[in-house]
Amino acid sequence: MLKAGAELTPPIVKRLCSLGISYVYIEDARTDDIFIRPVLKEETRRAVLSVMSETFDQLKKDLSADSVKFGFHKMEKQFTTVVRDIISQIRRRKEAIDLLTHLHVHDNYIFNHSLNVTIYTLALSMKLKNLTAKQTEEIGLGAMLHDVGKMLIPALILKKPDKLTKDEFEVMKSHTELGFELLRKEHGLPLTAAHCALQHHERLDGSGYPRGLKGNEIHVFGKMIGIADVYDAVTSNRIYRKAMLPHEGMEILYAGSGIEFETDYIEKFRKAIVMYPTGLTVWLTDGRKGIVSEQNEHVSDRPILLILEEDGYNLDVPYKVNLAAETTVFIKETDTTLSNT
Ligand SMILES: [Fe+2]
Repeated sequence: MLKAGAELTPPIVKRLCSLGISYVYIEDARTDDIFIRPVLKEETRRAVLSVMSETFDQLKKDLSADSVKFGFHKMEKQFTTVVRDIISQIRRRKEAIDLLTHLHVHDNYIFNHSLNVTIYTLALSMKLKNLTAKQTEEIGLGAMLHDVGKMLIPALILKKPDKLTKDEFEVMKSHTELGFELLRKEHGLPLTAAHCALQHHERLDGSGYPRGLKGNEIHVFGKMIGIADVYDAVTSNRIYRKAMLPHEGMEILYAGSGIEFETDYIEKFRKAIVMYPTGLTVWLTDGRKGIVSEQNEHVSDRPILLILEEDGYNLDVPYKVNLAAETTVFIKETDTTLSNT
């Protein structure tokens, strides 16, 4: 669509946005040796988002026609195909999962969130190693549809920019049961997928909802999706708050380790995902600006950076900094936490 070297003028940016392209990679001589390997092929990502919006639109139509049934069967084939596609692309990947290309999205929150949760959950499920192919597909379907009940929550509550009142929060919580009711009647879907919708807000200590289940009363899929859901929610920009930094999101999970979330799953989740994806622009606490150039295995909160700016000046000769070795500096901001604010 664009020739190499083309200038990104405002009309071009507008046109790209209207085509649903929310980010582009810009090659630059200084960052030549930084290689980005997206988790999903762009075609797959687009196919997932379009299947998801069609399915959810279908659901709205079915319900407005007073039919009590969700016509998932009309979409079942495409839905299962995209879930299988995601699974095979994640399975083939040797490195941990990074979601750089999914971070810069501002609209269609629910679809992007559902896709991110699916990718994170599948990455975690592959670390567990004891799930069969069938179970992996089931949890993939469940993760993709975990918030389907939100389609039945009034937009005024769903999109409210301020804190919800107690009553509004009660309505919001009902998305779990509403999702369960919709999905359990779908014969083309495994019943476990319906349980993912019902249980992803349950917490080990019984503090979750809707039923306040404890420990092993919660299905393993519900526990896993719960972790992926919290991490993606707190590290995404929302209308009512700015995204947290990935390591802060991980701290939220660790704070609930053994209390709200299964400790073993959090450990495996941390190893399954990359917190600061390669290619991400970051600002350090000492004011330097850089780009993540490589990962330190298993310490993805402390990657290797290529420093591009120091004391407010662009460097002609960028240099590398390994945050795993320089423990006194921290990542303060990223271009994702900056955007949308
Ligand atoms: Fe939810």
